[in-house]
Amino acid sequence: MKSLPPANSFFVTAEAISNAGATPVFVDVDPVTFHMDVQLASKSITDRTKAIVPVHHYGRAMNLKPFEALAEQHNLTLIEDCAQAHGASTHGKTLGSSGRLTCYSFYPGKNLGAYGDGGAVTTNDPEQMKRLRILREHGSTSSMTTASWVGTPGWTRCRLRFFR
Ligand SMILES: Cc1ncc(COP(=O)(O)O)c(C=O)c1O
Repeated sequence: MKSLPPANSFFVTAEAISNAGATPVFVDVDPVTFHMDVQLASKSITDRTKAIVPVHHYGRAMNLKPFEALAEQHNLTLIEDCAQAHGASTHGKTLGSSGRLTCYSFYPGKNLGAYGDGGAVTTNDPEQMKRLRILREHGSTSSMTTASWVGTPGWTRCRLRFFR
């Protein structure tokens, strides 16, 4: 299984692909926008390619229309790495409102940093949402809720992932 990240991203875009058991196949970028070049992405697709992972670099939203067409043509999943582009928009749409899987980082050095580490994925696909919630709970479908432990000694030190 292979996925296509851009060649100039922070290595973690490829790391996430690798952690999912796939092989990153790096796609070079447009020299003007520094965003993934759709024509080069097209040339990198084989029958083992499952996903394209464009990155919105440096707070700049990239035009995903050609990537949507490419993904549809080859039946690929389009996953946006939005770790550097919170609140950016393109073609009148804020990133993350597309309905695709859009991944954010709230690492303290990011455009929108958390008090500690953090991240989020947005989607409006109920199936993907279900899978994401299971992944968040380490494979469990019965998630912990805040109700049982809020107010108990030390509860404020618990990790934010338990909040909904
Ligand atoms: C483009 C890009 N993708 C993903 C990440 C990963 O974010 P995190 O460290 O929250 O996993 C970063 C930054 O760390 C990044 O710059």
